[in-house]
Amino acid sequence: MNSNNPSTASKSFPIYEDLVKAHFIAAIVYSVIVVLTGMSFALQFLSLYPFPGVEFLSPGRVRMTHTMAVAYGWLANGFFAILHYVIPKLTGNATFSKKLGWICFIVFNCLVVLSEILILAGYGQAVEWGETPVIMDPLIAIAATLACFNFLAPIWKARHKSFYVSVWYITAALVWAPLVYVMGNFIPQYWMPGSGGAAITSMYIHDLVGLFVTPLGVGLVYYLLPVLLKKPVYSHALSLTGFWGLAFFYPMNGAHHYLQSPIPLWSQYAAIVASIGIHVVVYTVIFNYFATMQGEYKQLVTSIPVRFIAVGSICYLLTCIQCAIQVTMSAQEIIHFTDWVPGHAHLVLFGTFSFWLYAWIYYLWPRIFKTELYSRTMCEWHFWLAAIGVIVMWLDLLAAGLMQGFMWKNLVPFINTVEATKPFWWTRALAGTCILVSEFVFVVNIFMTWKYRRQAFNEQKLNEPLTRTKTA
Ligand code: HEM
Repeated sequence: MNSNNPSTASKSFPIYEDLVKAHFIAAIVYSVIVVLTGMSFALQFLSLYPFPGVEFLSPGRVRMTHTMAVAYGWLANGFFAILHYVIPKLTGNATFSKKLGWICFIVFNCLVVLSEILILAGYGQAVEWGETPVIMDPLIAIAATLACFNFLAPIWKARHKSFYVSVWYITAALVWAPLVYVMGNFIPQYWMPGSGGAAITSMYIHDLVGLFVTPLGVGLVYYLLPVLLKKPVYSHALSLTGFWGLAFFYPMNGAHHYLQSPIPLWSQYAAIVASIGIHVVVYTVIFNYFATMQGEYKQLVTSIPVRFIAVGSICYLLTCIQCAIQVTMSAQEIIHFTDWVPGHAHLVLFGTFSFWLYAWIYYLWPRIFKTELYSRTMCEWHFWLAAIGVIVMWLDLLAAGLMQGFMWKNLVPFINTVEATKPFWWTRALAGTCILVSEFVFVVNIFMTWKYRRQAFNEQKLNEPLTRTKTA
């Protein structure tokens, strides 16, 4: 077993806790924007859009702010917060510079806010997941590179040590992320228009999730799970098999987003084969997580972070099984352009990666504020509403997608398919309401934890100076 296993790490390291807090706060603010924009756009499908006739908040633009807020606001900020904590713990070195950390935090978030405003003002690009206005692209690429450099420097400094698997995943994600961003936002735009550019865009769409969100999500759970369970990960060898499988298969998956399109057929088939390869990766990861949990299943009841990790992992498995079905040419004939696709997207980005992020926030937030969570009951409400919401939304959109696809294939007039889908869109709105309420419960709980910590801190300061130690 690797000597850097987090469950046995005990040394104290320089961690810039203010940066952890700042990124978490930004992530949580964006999570509220995510649910509000998602809910607004869902209401458009029911002719109940809350801002009819307001060009700045027109539904198409709000949809883009929804997905931008998911990727860059909520998930990226959440991951950056955790990296500020985890990298020093795993390498024994502080991040390159605290000042650079703050510059990156401010610049990155200003760029995200500006991008959202410009998208609402009508300057979004017609590039899926690359909707950021053209003028922002080079600035975001520079900010992302600087942020990654700040995190990679301590890893480079510790390169003579043997690394725990989380460091492998984190390193890969940080090297890949700027490359993926540049590839997706510059090559189709300036050098490769047409279907060649679409092939690159498909790779970008996939790699943003597969080479940034996935390695960080998976790598960070490999850290947190043994820490929570106070035992080593089941198999280090298996964890590395998963890592190399991801590195090898994921980049070749892209064209599976554009099956049955004018992209050369050989590249569509290559993407299908590589997508099957991805299953090996996911099964090794899920097996390793659950084998690590073996004997500790009671913690699913007692520990909120363990529960979020477990349910997130089940969603990851379901996403992958679903992927095996939807990656075939015959399934694509039916489900392409239907509601099946957002069903899949919510399961993976909310059910999996957001659930893992919640696990981290519930673990870390009380630690950095040296306090207890405000309310366990609110944690339970958050968990159950979010879990029910995402599963209902997923099943509902899958069913809607199948129905739409078969109706289209049978040349039913389009407007009839819209009418037929209405009950499914109502169900999505109800599931969305569950998610929205869960999110507000979560935010209030996190805010109250902070507020009462401040009160306790101030009261204690009046009586005796509080000895603040670095989080180990
Ligand atoms: C109140 C809860 C939510 C509602 C009602 C909602 C609703 C929607 C709607 C209506 C769309 C557009 C679907 C379409 O174009 O047909 C969408 C897209 C999307 N949403 Fe949400 N959403 C919610 C929360 C979330 C959360 C929490 C996440 C992830 C953290 C998320 C991730 C996404 C993604 C990735 C897409 C793009 C799907 C695609 O392009 O296929 N959503 N959402």
